[in-house]
Amino acid sequence: MRLVERLEEVPSLHGCALVPTMGALHEGHASLIRRAAASGLPAVATIFVNPTQFGPREDFSKYPRTLEADLKIAEAAGAAAVFVPDASAIYPDGIDAAKREAASWPLPPAATEPRLEDAARPGHFAGVCQVVARLFDLCRPAVAHFGEKDFQQLRVIMQMVDSSQGRWGALRIVPGPTVRERDGLAMSSRNRYLSSERRDTALGVYRALQMAMSAQRPATAESLMRETLEQHGFEIDYAVVRDARTLMPVSGLETPCRALIAARLPEVRLIDNMAMPVWR
Ligand code: PAJ
Repeated sequence: MRLVERLEEVPSLHGCALVPTMGALHEGHASLIRRAAASGLPAVATIFVNPTQFGPREDFSKYPRTLEADLKIAEAAGAAAVFVPDASAIYPDGIDAAKREAASWPLPPAATEPRLEDAARPGHFAGVCQVVARLFDLCRPAVAHFGEKDFQQLRVIMQMVDSSQGRWGALRIVPGPTVRERDGLAMSSRNRYLSSERRDTALGVYRALQMAMSAQRPATAESLMRETLEQHGFEIDYAVVRDARTLMPVSGLETPCRALIAARLPEVRLIDNMAMPVWR
């Protein structure tokens, strides 16, 4: 496996199957790298903790950075190369200029209208679109893999590519299913922030989603989720059922819908989601 750090080497990655990450790799990331490698194209993981997608009170400086372990995981999962740019390769004009640029980034509807992550983390998707667009410009992948774990992000990236008028050629975005711990907790780099005591509490998010699965109406699913999250002591950002494509509110479950949760414990904010059964 090659470690690519310098911009001059990046053209050798063109045409790859790309897996953008912020590192602190776990089995969720590894599953995306394995899918990318299985596509027959060279799988390339990128590791870059992107400053422009973190809010001023968020965890940019303490975000886990575990490069040595990450390289081993990427190699074992079949990556042909890992691209680890430094900030100046991604943002040649500096981070302050990049943050100013992000503030006026043109965003697809899924990034601004659903009032989900966009409401709780203003500016987040501008930074995500900015860095992903830059990675696509540099690496010119044929395929890029994103996890359903960050479902709104996946929809935002899909819309960004759909409306890009061929900026990245025939680039295809491929979703990968959420990888969970044995007990159901969705894997996340931020799970490292959980103390062993909070680890059990965190399972409340999965339990709430499972409760939602039994409901025949969105409103019922939403009250079941809220009840379960409150019982576990979460502060709720949102616990909703939405159209799986637009992420906008729905009145029934006759079309594909998604249950989506963001909820906070004192030291960590957890997000997760699940496909609702379709009732016809
Ligand atoms: P990061 O949180 O590192 O996630 C990288 C990719 O791994 C994303 O596509 C995410 O959805 C996926 N992923 C994370 N946990 C997963 C799990 N349990 N199962 C399956 N896939 C999982 O998302 C980002 O980084 C950044 O916003 C990024 C897109 C790299 C832009 O900076």
